[in-house]
Amino acid sequence: MMSVAEFTLPLIVTTPDAWAEDALEDLDSLLNDHAHLEKKAGQNALELLHRWPEPSPPENWTAAMTAVAKDEVEHLGIVLRLISRRGGRLTKSHRNDYASALRRLVRPGGEAETIDRLMVSALIEARSCERFEILSRCCPDPQLARVYGGLWASEKGHYLSFIDLARQVADRTDVEEDVEIRWKDMLASESRIIQEQRPGSRMHSWYS
Ligand SMILES: [Fe+2]
Ligand SMILES: [Fe+2]
Repeated sequence: MMSVAEFTLPLIVTTPDAWAEDALEDLDSLLNDHAHLEKKAGQNALELLHRWPEPSPPENWTAAMTAVAKDEVEHLGIVLRLISRRGGRLTKSHRNDYASALRRLVRPGGEAETIDRLMVSALIEARSCERFEILSRCCPDPQLARVYGGLWASEKGHYLSFIDLARQVADRTDVEEDVEIRWKDMLASESRIIQEQRPGSRMHSWYS
């Protein structure tokens, strides 16, 4: 498996380790937010499952989406067990302003929507991947640190799957724009959006 040092994420803004201090201050809230994000990531993959572009979808489309969905449900199970071991319980409602702001970047209709949805998924995976790496180093509980390290590797794979599918869609369809220019724009928007988030014990918070 590729190590953290050998892998570079494309994110423009790097989260400082100081973020983890805020995030780990209330571990129950962080785990609750995290569990909801895993559930939403699984739902997102299943939602995209039947949204392949016609007439020539990437061959690995359904396999990639089911693999992501399966991983996310597994992650959800891991986080729910951690919550339950701490005597906690998942909250019924959850909001993620970061993901909502990213979704507003999606242009509706056709291949542009498909590419944007894949890119937004890739951005969320990439940022989550970055955050898990920080948590794996900064979390004082060695068992939890190992869980975060495992999630780093998995979300890294998801980020790569989504961006690969976005590039395949652009290659296979008659998209006029350059997919790499769109990706650069999306990365720039993400760097603004992540820094606009409130501090707190959440996976996609910014820091105080
Ligand atoms: Fe996950
Ligand atoms: Fe993921």
